[in-house]
Amino acid sequence: MRVQNPKIDEPILHLVGEEADRLGLECYVIGGWVRDLFLHRPCTDIDVVCVRPTPVEQTDGKQPTIGIQLAEAVTARLGRGAHLAVFRNYGTAQVKRKDLELEFVGARRESYQRDSRNPIVEDGTLEEDQNRRDFTINAMAICLNKDRYGELLDPFDGLYDLEDLTIRTPLDPDITFSDDPLRMMRAVRFATQLGFYLDDETFDAIERNKNRIEIISKERIVDELNKIMRSRRPSVGWILLDKTGLLPLVFPEIAALKGIETKEGKGHKDVFLHTLQVVDNLSMKSDNLWLRWAALLHDIGKPRSKAWDDAAGWTFRNHNYIGAKMIPKIFHRMKMPENEKMAYVVKMVDLHMRPINLIEDTVTDSAVRRLLFEAGDDIDDLMLLCDADITSRNAEKVERFHRNYQLVRQKMVELEERDRIRNFQPPVRGDEIMQTLNLEPCSAVGELKTAIKDAILDGIIPNEYEAARAYMFQKAREMGLISDKA
Ligand code: CTP
Repeated sequence: MRVQNPKIDEPILHLVGEEADRLGLECYVIGGWVRDLFLHRPCTDIDVVCVRPTPVEQTDGKQPTIGIQLAEAVTARLGRGAHLAVFRNYGTAQVKRKDLELEFVGARRESYQRDSRNPIVEDGTLEEDQNRRDFTINAMAICLNKDRYGELLDPFDGLYDLEDLTIRTPLDPDITFSDDPLRMMRAVRFATQLGFYLDDETFDAIERNKNRIEIISKERIVDELNKIMRSRRPSVGWILLDKTGLLPLVFPEIAALKGIETKEGKGHKDVFLHTLQVVDNLSMKSDNLWLRWAALLHDIGKPRSKAWDDAAGWTFRNHNYIGAKMIPKIFHRMKMPENEKMAYVVKMVDLHMRPINLIEDTVTDSAVRRLLFEAGDDIDDLMLLCDADITSRNAEKVERFHRNYQLVRQKMVELEERDRIRNFQPPVRGDEIMQTLNLEPCSAVGELKTAIKDAILDGIIPNEYEAARAYMFQKAREMGLISDKA
C-alpha cells in the first residue's frame, strides 16, 4: 500500500531517500512518526532505519555504521543550519535542523555464539528490526527510496490496531516486555495519551511480568508518569497501573490511598478514586504539570492521618501537613526535581485545606490576608486546586462550595487591591531594626519582625513603611528594649 498523506512528501524525507539511493541502501521512516502521521498528531522526531541489501557479519562486535553514513550524507546535503551528533557505540546518529530531529540507525540482529563472549552483530532485515519494537502501532515503516517511495510496510497490522484503538505487542508479549520492561509503562502511557485499550494478551503479560519493572531506572519511569500526567485524562493511566498491578511497585503511596473502611456503619471516601477525579477536574482547567502533580498528591497524607473518633467518625487531621512532609522523600526516591517545582507542590499540598476552612468559618479579613501572604503568586493555582477538590455527588453541595469559593476570591481581590499582601515583604527589615534600636542580632529582632508582619496581616496597621516603623518603636518600648521616652 502507498501512503496518501501530504506529510510524507516533505522535502526532507525525499532528500533522505535520495541519499540512501546514492549509498545503495534501503531506508525507511519508522516508529512514532508513522503512527502519528495516521493519527494526525504533530511529531517532530523522525526515526529512520537503513538496511543493507546484502547483510554483512561484523565479528568485532561493533555496531553497523550504515545509519551513521546516511546521517553524514544527509547533513552534508542540508548544509548550514544542520547539526550532526554521532553515537558510535550505539551505531546511531542524530541530525538536527531547526525544530526537526532525525535519528538514524542501521537495522540489526544480535546473536550470541556459545564459544565466544563477543556478540556477533549482524545487519538485520527490516522485518527483524520491526520484530524488536514495542507495539504494532509503533512498528510500521514507510519506504523512502525513490522507486518505492511511500510504500507502507506493516507486517503486524499496526494500521488495523490504530483503527481498533488497540495497544498490542508485535511478538509474544512476554518476549517484548522482557527485552525492555519499561514497555509495560509505555503500554499504559500510550493507552492514556491516545485513548486506546490494552489488548487482553498484552494486559495479561503485564500482570505476569510486573515485577520486572524493578530493574528500570526511576528516571525512565517518571518520564512515562509525566506523560500520563500531561494527558487529557490522567486517571485512565493511574487506573490501568492499578489494574495491571504495577501501581504498588511504581508508586506505593498512591496505591495506599485505595480502599474504604467501615466502622459502626460509617465509611469514608475511597481516597484513590477521589484523588483521580480531582486530577481529571484540574486537568480540564490547567496544563500546569506541577499543579497536576499537586492534585495527585494533595491527600497523600490521609492514610497516615486516618483515625476513628467516636463522636466525629473518620478523621484525617493534619493530613495536609503530613502529606506536605512526605513529598520531599517521594521526590527524592523517584528522582523527581528537588527544586522550586517540588517546593511549589509542597506548598500546594500544605495549603489545600485553607480555603475550605475560610468558607466554613466567617471569613475574616485577617484569615484571607494570611492565606494571600503564604500562597503569594501561587494563590490562583491554589484556588484552582481547591475548586477541583470538590467532588461530592450532591449537586447542591457542589454548587454551594463553588459559590462560596467565588466569594473568597472576591474578598481576595478587594484585599489585594487595598493592602498588596501578595509576595509582601515587611516594610521594616531586620537590619533596619538592629540599626535603629542599636541591637546586636538576637531573638528580639525576630520577635519585632513577626510582630510587624502580624500587625499588618491582622489589619492593625496598614502595609506601609511609616506605620510599620511607628509600630516597631511602640513594640520595642513594650518589650523594654528602649526607654519609654525614646
Ligand atoms: N521503541 C521501542 N521500545 C522502547 C522505546 C522505543 O520499541 N522501549 C521504539 C518504538 O518503535 C518507538 C520508537 O522506538 O516508536 C521511538 O521511540 P520513542 O521516541 O521513545 O517513542 P515514540 O513512539 O516516538 O513516542 P513518544 O515520542 O511519544 O515517546
